[in-house]
Amino acid sequence: MGPMTDVIRVDPATPDAAGLTRAAECLRRGGLVAFPTETVYGLGVHALDRAAVRRLFEAKGRPANDPLIVHVDAVERMHDLVAAVPSSVASLANRFWPGPLTLVLPRSGRVPDEVTAGLNTVAIRIPAHPVARALLAAAGIPVAAPSANLFSRPSPTRASHVLEDLAGRIDLVVDGGPTQVGVESTVLDLSGDVPTILRPGAVSLDMLRAILPRVERWSGDAPASGALSSPGLLQRHYSPRAPLTVYDGSEAVVRLVRDACASIGQGQRVGIIAADEDRAALTDVERFAPRATISYLGPESDLSTVASRLYAAMRELDASGVDRILARGFAGADGLAVAIQDRLRRASVKSET
Ligand code: TXA
Ligand code: MG
Repeated sequence: MGPMTDVIRVDPATPDAAGLTRAAECLRRGGLVAFPTETVYGLGVHALDRAAVRRLFEAKGRPANDPLIVHVDAVERMHDLVAAVPSSVASLANRFWPGPLTLVLPRSGRVPDEVTAGLNTVAIRIPAHPVARALLAAAGIPVAAPSANLFSRPSPTRASHVLEDLAGRIDLVVDGGPTQVGVESTVLDLSGDVPTILRPGAVSLDMLRAILPRVERWSGDAPASGALSSPGLLQRHYSPRAPLTVYDGSEAVVRLVRDACASIGQGQRVGIIAADEDRAALTDVERFAPRATISYLGPESDLSTVASRLYAAMRELDASGVDRILARGFAGADGLAVAIQDRLRRASVKSET
């Protein structure tokens, strides 16, 4: 067991500087501080302190080849972290920062290799959450922060999720309540010829194209021309412990119910991730409680609610000890549907490595 992990509660409506001074001080001295952003909780560390960054990788059990996002509180603060600022950055920053967008840019020599995993680019984000903003302003340093979960576990959307994974391994948790968006930021690579989305998030392809028409989505098979590979995005991620199956396409919920009942018949405990609209279809399964646990994420028509509850549902189903999870997919061209589908797909990849 490592050091005690302290928890500081901060009201997101009025994040007073006094409450955050200790957290900011801890960051400046090389400590590991979890804090809320509008997407998920991040595990922050002084981005220019190599030794501290190495401790962060250890605490998370994260492979060193998975680069970190550097968080700053203003565009001016990113200038000495990047080697060049493509002309598109100003308009993107204007429209989407602060917010759930991360930009991958050519890096400067100031950013340690530990942060970028040796890549010649650095990922930068200005988060919108008032607690994150107040903390970054109080700390006055660039803060590298991956999601505050153990490697390959679902990202934390509440302080309790952070403690579940990292209590005793980090110095502090700033508890600012549940996060709003619930899925991680959109990662947009601007370092190559074609601006490429490496990870879908709340800032959608269409929203980006309205500012930058040439944006493409990374196919996932091969890097887009000029784009760097992003090792962390290739692996199984965001996973609950129980194996997860996603049901898409026609009759998806019917097939899900059939498989759930078959598993229960074989003596298994099943967890189900569903939309509010599926209630009627799931009454047959609900009868089997507690061998069936159903987590309703919200109405299909309200994908913000669905996204904000997704990771908590995975964690809750795991905690209830289910043998497998069956999830209904969320198809659609809407940006959040793409992001939700992406996370479900990653969670369902069998761990082979
Ligand atoms: O919403 C978020 O982005 C949250 C909050 C805390 O800001 N952070 C987050 O960090 O999700 P993390 O480390 O869990 O995911 C960051 C992803 C990694 O998978 C990594 O591969 C990619 O961003 N990334 C970071 N630096 C990169 C770079 N230089 N080039 C390409 N991809 C990069
Ligand atoms: Mg992560």
